[in-house]
Amino acid sequence: MAVGVFDSGLGGLTVHSAIQRRLPDLPLVYFADSAHAPYGVRTADDIYDLTCAATAKLWDRGCDLVILACNTASAAALRRMQEGFVPEGKRVLGVFVPLIEALTERQWGDNSPPREVEVKHVALFATPATVASRAFQRELAFRAIGVDVEAQPCGGVVDAIEDGDEILAEALVTSHVEALKRRMPHPQAAILGCTHYPLMEGAFQAALGPEVTVFSQANLVADSLADYLERRPEFAGASRESAYLTTGDPARVSTKATQFMRRKISFEAA
Ligand code: DGL
Repeated sequence: MAVGVFDSGLGGLTVHSAIQRRLPDLPLVYFADSAHAPYGVRTADDIYDLTCAATAKLWDRGCDLVILACNTASAAALRRMQEGFVPEGKRVLGVFVPLIEALTERQWGDNSPPREVEVKHVALFATPATVASRAFQRELAFRAIGVDVEAQPCGGVVDAIEDGDEILAEALVTSHVEALKRRMPHPQAAILGCTHYPLMEGAFQAALGPEVTVFSQANLVADSLADYLERRPEFAGASRESAYLTTGDPARVSTKATQFMRRKISFEAA
């Protein structure tokens, strides 16, 4: 059995690692579409086509369940995929819902009407495509009322991470946080709405200040997956082999992945 974990590049490794910690016996096949990263500056049609192609490759590797560990793909492509692309017996899940359930203090699958929640001022940091989709605000509106969301498109951060340039990534994070704080000086919570951003979580927290609670997805998604597989064990898939696949140069992607995750990771060609 194996579950597929997809991202445009390295960011989904933050989710992948959390799943490994939570479900150590579950084989995982990670797919980084490095040749086409970043997705965050692409059109919704482009993101849809690329995400479908990567998902189909993971199905071919025996992963009946694919986690889109990419907010940009979850925001721009997931709904359309579920409506017309995902066949019987396969599943594709995104990373938004577990995060919003945590923010709105809900249990998994609680479909009761939207209600007032503790957090009133939320800063959302995400890629330009995710911010433009307004998918986060839409999902939040199903669950909570009276929450003011200020979204900051964080251009350049994913590119800097994919290039292994931590200094540039940190400088960009600081300037994006400052830009957001000019519009919302005192957010109560900040959402890292891109799976690359937990790699820069320290920089976000430092720029936001200690009083802001930073939500990131990795552990929330891992818990949701564990819960899902308990109820639907058949979706753990047919393959038993773990792998890291990339559409980019495997040697280069392995070096950057090892640098950011601070453990040896070896990619092979997808
Ligand atoms: N990790 C992806 C996300 O969560 C980054 C998208 C990109 O390639 O720009 O949105």
